[in-house]
Amino acid sequence: MNELQQQILELKRTKNAVILAHSYQIPEIKQIADFTGDSYQLAVQAKNTDAEIIVFCGVHFMAETAKIINPKRTVLLPSLDAGCALADEITAEQLRNWKAKFPSAPVVLYINSTAAAKAEADVVCTSSNARKIVQSLPNHQILMAPDKNLSNVIAQELPEKDIIAWDGVCPVHQDITAEILESVMAKYPTAEVVVHPECRPEVCKNADAVLSTSGMIDYVEQSNATEFIIGTEQGLIDTLIEKFPQKRFFPTHEPKSCDESCVCPYMKSNNLDNVLLALKNMQHEIVVEESVRVGAKRSIDRMLEITI
Ligand code: 13P
Ligand code: SF4
Repeated sequence: MNELQQQILELKRTKNAVILAHSYQIPEIKQIADFTGDSYQLAVQAKNTDAEIIVFCGVHFMAETAKIINPKRTVLLPSLDAGCALADEITAEQLRNWKAKFPSAPVVLYINSTAAAKAEADVVCTSSNARKIVQSLPNHQILMAPDKNLSNVIAQELPEKDIIAWDGVCPVHQDITAEILESVMAKYPTAEVVVHPECRPEVCKNADAVLSTSGMIDYVEQSNATEFIIGTEQGLIDTLIEKFPQKRFFPTHEPKSCDESCVCPYMKSNNLDNVLLALKNMQHEIVVEESVRVGAKRSIDRMLEITI
């Protein structure tokens, strides 16, 4: 542990705080986190924590979700730049107008969305439970937003459903093209290909498995293969390298450099300096207006009821 990490751990203890980190965080943050996981697991951790303060090392919609489901806690987001380009793809007003065109179709909204949009949805989903959530609905026609690639994966898996998808993408995963993937596959022909559902359909089509970040970790653990091509943000690859030193991992951003693709600038805007400042100065506190919080909580709770 370096000096900054020790200072953070000491403050965390004296202030009764917990650090929740997404897998895309830098290794130095994951080393001091109480829990590291995917968006679904982080939401469950946030719901169940007894700590007074949650320092959320992830992006804004994740910290907002923590505040929505556990409003008595103070939730801090270390970086003001930790937004999410995908969450910005649909506003509450756009969602209201869209669902008015399909009055009998329920809205399944990806957790990568604003609290105001969640308040307009019927049920929230994450990359690890989207299939289960959609399957649980009796309706034939279902609206899914904002990620069209995740919606496409579910439409392929559940052909009995008529999924109407909003046209949003995550720019980080959209940068992984079929050409890049094919060039990495040609270099490592025996490696298994595991990608995130936010990837393009032509990338998902070439994969052995399309999984959430925690699903990818479980897949690698259970697989007999020793080489994997991983289609997601670099932070998850860092975790895999650390967890499975006997296996080899190849990113889909070869031969491009890491700086050009597959590093989420929002996730990477958290660092040890601003985590320390978050705890010292109690910044940046997440506030959700009560009427929005209650509406958003209803759609998140529905997800939790279906999946817990
Ligand atoms: P996971 O829930 O799979 O961790 O995904 C979150 C995310 O933002 C992926 O870009
Ligand atoms: Fe949002 Fe994409 Fe970054 Fe995930 S990787 S937080 S979806 S911008």
